[in-house]
Amino acid sequence: MHTDPWRKEFPVTDELIYLNHAAVCPLPRRTAGAVCAMANEYRDRGSWDYPHILDTVRRGRERLANLIDARPHEVAYVKNTTSGLMLAAESIPWRAGDSVVVAGIEFPANVYPWLNLRRRGVEVRIVEARERLLHVDDYRAACDASTRAIAVSWVQYSTGQRMDLPALAGIAREVGAYLIVDAIQGLGALQADVGEMGADVLCADGHKWLLSVEGCAPLFVSDRIIGDLEPFWRGWCSVPTPMDLGAHDQPPRNDARRFEEGSANTIGAAALDASAGLLLEVGPAEVERRIIALTDGLIEGLRAGGCTIVSPLAPEERSGIVCFEHPTRDADEVVERLTHEGIAAASRMGLVRLSPHFYNDEGEIERAVQACVS
Ligand SMILES: Cc1ncc(COP(=O)(O)O)c(C=O)c1O
Repeated sequence: MHTDPWRKEFPVTDELIYLNHAAVCPLPRRTAGAVCAMANEYRDRGSWDYPHILDTVRRGRERLANLIDARPHEVAYVKNTTSGLMLAAESIPWRAGDSVVVAGIEFPANVYPWLNLRRRGVEVRIVEARERLLHVDDYRAACDASTRAIAVSWVQYSTGQRMDLPALAGIAREVGAYLIVDAIQGLGALQADVGEMGADVLCADGHKWLLSVEGCAPLFVSDRIIGDLEPFWRGWCSVPTPMDLGAHDQPPRNDARRFEEGSANTIGAAALDASAGLLLEVGPAEVERRIIALTDGLIEGLRAGGCTIVSPLAPEERSGIVCFEHPTRDADEVVERLTHEGIAAASRMGLVRLSPHFYNDEGEIERAVQACVS
């Protein structure tokens, strides 16, 4: 009998043991409800109550800003993590001979936008992992006066390593570079404060730890740097008063919302609004505390069962992701067995990846460990 009041928000718990939030999350009840409610509003009334729809979009932006300790105008809605990173990559005022530093093990969403800059004469410097992990010193060694950006995931998708963003921000400041953060594997799981992180730009699609849908992502662009960025694209919504339809001489907005080029994904924003509301209600500190406690259980049980934990174990490098190797079975085989038992997990880069969220419980963790090691 469950006493956790939040668990009823997750009907998935009736069906599955869901430990795959690093892939695509199940939706909370209220989020699915918000999506259906907005779809029904469009079905029954079209845009009759459009101010109400825009209110939801605005509230979602405020909640997301609250979640990362930013100001609402520093948050734009974009299509996904990739598009946020591409917008950053293309807006930086590059000069020939500039460089960007990025790790070779990054998820490709945070690689291609940078490789694509080679056409503009930008050098892409790759930091290599050592035994799958990244080291701040290697970033330092890769940076020099030519470096205009360090691009990094807050949490690495293939190991769960939480990166030391303040240290990377320090290096970026020293050489005059921006810190561009792919936050999709951290945001919603770990407490976030963009000021403390030192992030200049940060983006995360909704469909993992934020407990929302695919295709609608908050993009944070710090006020500190907005004036430096080139408005390389401009649409009808990028300007201060979009509804002044005849005024084509408007400059781009002087905040993150210049990157909202046209009509918003209002249904996606409604989902983000509901999920961010839930995360704020539980409290980001409590969400993180629960997730780390659940991953403690996974790490302990898997090690006792003879598995090798590849995710780093230092507290400051922990996240919601636990990656491991089984002593005798390959990752695909372990995940296949888990799937057979109704346990959602993933196989990534030869490792089994488990990623519980705050509503999972110890019983589920025990069952998952048993299924992994038996
Ligand atoms: C680190 C990281 N970045 C980005 C993505 C996905 O990017 P997008 O939101 O553009 O689909 C993933 C998805 O697995 C990821 O793990």
